[in-house]
Amino acid sequence: MLRHRRKVIYLLGFMGSGKSTVGQLLANALGWPLIDLDTVIEAGQGLSIREIFENSGEPFFRQIERAALTEACKAEPAVIALGGGTFAQPPNVDLVRDSGGATVWLDCPPEVLRTRCEGLENRPLFRDKESFEQLFMERLPFYRLADYRISTEGRNPQEVVEQILSLRVF
Ligand code: S3P
Repeated sequence: MLRHRRKVIYLLGFMGSGKSTVGQLLANALGWPLIDLDTVIEAGQGLSIREIFENSGEPFFRQIERAALTEACKAEPAVIALGGGTFAQPPNVDLVRDSGGATVWLDCPPEVLRTRCEGLENRPLFRDKESFEQLFMERLPFYRLADYRISTEGRNPQEVVEQILSLRVF
């Protein structure tokens, strides 16, 4: 069992994996605050994620995501729900892993993720099946660097929270 210096849990995984929903339930269960990185970014810019991508492009989004992550990493205790691409940027991986918290990957097959994301408006990187699955495959090696992996397939968010709590991370 890994022991972590700081009482921080980072939730990571592809879009649609349930990071925000599980993050809120987990934060409630622990009595810790939730920092939802996409929400922080939207509040800081006064724009939706989609608008930020449309107005300024992905490289700009990654810059402000990095800045928001740098601030979020200082919080303790905290549950931090990352965006789907946050932990797939090598400098962010180092920042998160060096911060001393625990990283939990919410794993789910791409077919299930895709059905969850279809029809949702605020996911600028969700275009079609092929690009979705390609991006998923590109990111897998990063997600595999997480300290813990929880399979979310067939589990509701509360059950995922129970799985995370049973890890006895701290
Ligand atoms: C992104 C995922 C989104 C959001 C942005 C970029 C990605 O977060 O950060 O659209 O690169 O996969 P969710 O995983 O919460 O959808």
